Order: sequence, then C-alpha cells, then structure tokens
Amino acid sequence: MNITHLSAEQAAVADAVQQGLTAVSKSLPPWLFYDAAGSLLFEQITELPEYYLTRVERGIFAAHARQMLAGAAQGQRLSLWELGAGTASKTGLLLRAALEQQGRVVYHPIDVSESALAAACRQIERSLPGVQVVPHVADYTRNLVLPAAAAASPERRLVLYIGSSIGNFSPQEALALLRSVRRQLAPQDGLLLGTDLVKDEATLLAAYDDTAGVTAAFNRNILLHINRELGADFHPERFAHRVRWNAVASRMEIYLESLAAQRVRIPATGLEISFTAGETIHTENSYKFTVPGAQRLLEAAGFTLRTTWMDRRNWFGVHLAQANRAEQVRAVSGMQ
Ligand code: TRP
Repeated sequence: MNITHLSAEQAAVADAVQQGLTAVSKSLPPWLFYDAAGSLLFEQITELPEYYLTRVERGIFAAHARQMLAGAAQGQRLSLWELGAGTASKTGLLLRAALEQQGRVVYHPIDVSESALAAACRQIERSLPGVQVVPHVADYTRNLVLPAAAAASPERRLVLYIGSSIGNFSPQEALALLRSVRRQLAPQDGLLLGTDLVKDEATLLAAYDDTAGVTAAFNRNILLHINRELGADFHPERFAHRVRWNAVASRMEIYLESLAAQRVRIPATGLEISFTAGETIHTENSYKFTVPGAQRLLEAAGFTLRTTWMDRRNWFGVHLAQANRAEQVRAVSGMQ
C-alpha cells in the first residue's frame, strides 16, 4: 500500500494513527471504534446487563418525555435537532411526545455518517409517521451550523444531545461544543442534555468491563479497524482490555495494554511501532457528572438549567436547559 494512494477515509485513519501511536503516551481517538463491526459491537454493549446507561436513560424518557417537551415548548411549536443520528428506541420516545403535543414535528438528525443517518431516518419514518425527517450530514464537533430557521418561523428549536456522548469530550472540549450549540440558537431555544452520573466504582467498572467480554472486543476492534484500513499487523489478542476509574478527573479511562514487548507494522503509514510489555494505548475517557457539575457546564456555555430528571437511583441525568439572551452569553464568556 502506498501512502499516495489512500482514500480520504484511509488518510484520516493514517493521520490519527501516526499522531496517536508516535506520541510518548500512546493513544487513539475514539471515533476509530466505529467502523461497521464496531458499531454492531456498540449496539450489543447497549444491551448488556452491566451497561446501564442506555436502559436507564430510555427509562427516564419513557417516564418524563411529555414534561420534557412541554417544558421546552412553553406553548410554542418545536422543531427537534439531534446531535448524532438517533435511534427509534430513545429518540422515538421524545418524537412521540412531540407528536402528541403538536400533531406533527420536523426532526433534524445531524451526523457525520451518511449510512447511520439513512438507517435512523428509515427507522423513525417507519415507526413514527407524522415525523418529517430532515437529515444533515455534518461533523457537529467541528463547526456546527444549523440551517437558518425559516424567516418568521414561530418554531422554537430543541437540540437533543442524549446518550452521554458529552462525557467522551474533555471538559474544555465539552464547553466549546455546547457554546457552539448556543451560538446557533435563539434565546429561549432549548437543549436536552444526557449525562451519566458519578456512582459507586464497582458499578462503573462493570459497565465498561462486562463479563461476556463484549466491551473488550469493542475496544480491541480499534486495532482490527487499523489492520483493515491500513494493512497493519496488530494481533488484538496480544492486547488486554483495561479500565480505570479516575476519581480526581471524574472519568472512566479505557486502555489497551500490550501483554508483551512487540512491534507492529503499519505499511500505509510507513511506521513500525514498538510496545513494551505493560505499555498502554489510551482509547477513551467517559466523564461522569454531578448535577451541579452539569449545571456549571451549561451555564458557562450560555444556558440556564431549567429541570433535571433522573432515575430512582440517580444513576443518569437528563437536563433541560434554555438558551440565555445574547448579552448573558457575552457576560459569561467575558468572565473566564
Ligand atoms: N459513549 C459511550 C460511553 O462513554 C461509549 C462506550 C461505551 C465506550 N463502552 C465503551 C467507549 C467502551 C470505549 C470503550 O459510555
């Protein structure tokens, strides 16, 4: 394989691998998890008994979707904008509540992956006639641009950022992302944000290291993805899945640990990477919030927290926030 003949996808993987694996502390960016095999494995993770996040958040929507939608609308009509392609199982609960509230609703999912968007559209259109789906292919982590609202549109926007994806960003990146969301909104528009919450360590560790080994397979799939894209010769079984709760940073840390001294060739990059026994590749962080912590983040980004809904064990929080007036956004950003 020659570096000048890489597809755009291969070039992006090559860049990420080069950056991450030649650093003193090795790491790989989490988007590398999600090739076709990785997306299927993640679907399986969401159904594991130990991985409570998806189930608990769905339960919160099942119990409170109507209140969430009514709180965001305050008597106006809403359009729904989702960061990431939603699934009928969770987003569907919110869309159903929107349909009950206002008869029809326009739903705008935003995702980098065209195929993920197409699948989400099919699923939603099939299960929820009355929802008009308008997909947008875009990387919302780069520069989020929501298409301008129709002139004189009386609709309020409600942005959905659910599933605790916000926890996969560093606090700085999370703030930058929510600020970019705020800049696209008008005062009074809403944001519904899902955050996983701090809880006992054993529950957190199990959620990221299940007994069936699905999460381990998901983590190792990042190496298989690099093999497939770049012709590398990683042996995934020579790396162990490791997780750690970092209480100081309030995050789960996920690693792959090299079980022996080894070398890996990555022909498409011209690289040969050496690992010592015990050396790690950091593949993901998953920050866990407190309600006051989520409130501080939202306020720093130019929102006011209106309501937080939780399950009965306080394991997961869904926050409804409202965009501040523009002068409040400036005041907050001027303060930091
Ligand atoms: N967003 C998910 C989370 O932080 C992603 C995830 C679940 C994940 N299990 C994982 C990422 C294991 C890496 C490894 O919960």
